[in-house]
Amino acid sequence: MSMHPESAVKDRYSEAAQSLQSELCCPVSYNPAYLKIIPDEVLERDYGCGDPSAHLREGETVLDLGSGGGKICFIAGQVVGPTGRVIGVDMNPEMLALARAALPKTGLDNIEFLEGRIQDLRSNPAETARYLAQHPVKTAQDALALQRHLDAHPLVADDSVDTVVSNCVLNLVAGEHKSALFREMFRVIRRGGRAVISDIVCDEAVPQHLRENPELWSGCVSGALREDAFLRAFTDAGFYGVRILKRDDEPWRTVEGIEFRSLTVEAFKGKEGPCWEGLQAVVYRGPFAAVIDDDGHCIPRGVRYAVCKKTFGLYGREPYRDQFFFVEPLHPVEHDETPFDCKQDAIRDPRATKGADYDVTTDAAVCCEPTDGDAPCC
Ligand SMILES: C[S@@+](CC[C@H](N)C(=O)[O-])C[C@H]1O[C@@H](n2cnc3c(N)ncnc32)[C@H](O)[C@@H]1O
Repeated sequence: MSMHPESAVKDRYSEAAQSLQSELCCPVSYNPAYLKIIPDEVLERDYGCGDPSAHLREGETVLDLGSGGGKICFIAGQVVGPTGRVIGVDMNPEMLALARAALPKTGLDNIEFLEGRIQDLRSNPAETARYLAQHPVKTAQDALALQRHLDAHPLVADDSVDTVVSNCVLNLVAGEHKSALFREMFRVIRRGGRAVISDIVCDEAVPQHLRENPELWSGCVSGALREDAFLRAFTDAGFYGVRILKRDDEPWRTVEGIEFRSLTVEAFKGKEGPCWEGLQAVVYRGPFAAVIDDDGHCIPRGVRYAVCKKTFGLYGREPYRDQFFFVEPLHPVEHDETPFDCKQDAIRDPRATKGADYDVTTDAAVCCEPTDGDAPCC
């Protein structure tokens, strides 16, 4: 590519903010109820490939990466409601202008649009400009003071967002910045939060000559990751429980036999931290003979698999909850005293859960006695 992908993307979306670029449009159906308040000039410049907003909940703080004309933010603003908040980030001034001009027309007051590059959500161009206007940098001391100020005013703070969404943007980020992008998503999401990302992925690796084609790159095609690599990028950044929420059967584009299609993926943050013994177990329901989680635990179907308190808590929530039965100890382990070795694949002895002195005698004969000549009750 004669020009850097980021310049090609900037040029392309400056044009796309001003007039509709139909070749950038991938058909998506949104909930029509949320579209009513969105101005036509935004709806006409819909360059998404999925609908991550369909997975949001009331009250969430949402960050939309590459917010473009603002459509996903305007839908998200209605879903999260007055107790939630939505932040859209885009690097393109024309797209930001389009979104900011449309915002008052929607009547929503829980949304803001910020300028920034999504692979570096610490850098804060508006704050940098504001500071420099008041404190011109003339000496090394000034430069240090600027750096300190910017460190204290990141565009998006650590652990500050419930859900990161993005619609057809990650593929546009240059290859050398893609892992930083996933790390940034992980950094800004709070523990227990998640990412819901719609993006274009491909079924075969994209060859160099297609990656070097600025038209294909900025057109959301040749910057796409192969679908397995796309999912792995989340786990490499520290996410867990990654799952595909939607995968289009039909490719959006096919170039030199390579299929490019839309995928919506959800990934969770919050498995880091120490492992403590709580004498708990989980029983995997099946139907597979065993499952392996993102930490390499291999959990066979139907056995009392020993887990630490943290894993027990994680499995009790989305996305795992429906896969297991949960076995609590008879006497809860209140304090975090005994480290639990999460590297082991251990079966929890029933006596460990119940306690070695467990002895409750049940009189099965009473229950199974026929009543008044009827069939036995169990
Ligand atoms: C295909 S459009 C999608 C816009 C919007 N998400 C939608 O659904 O219509 C891509 C948008 O991502 C922005 N973008 C691309 N790369 C970016 C980057 N590295 N940092 C910030 N914004 C970026 C572009 O400026 C453009 O507005």
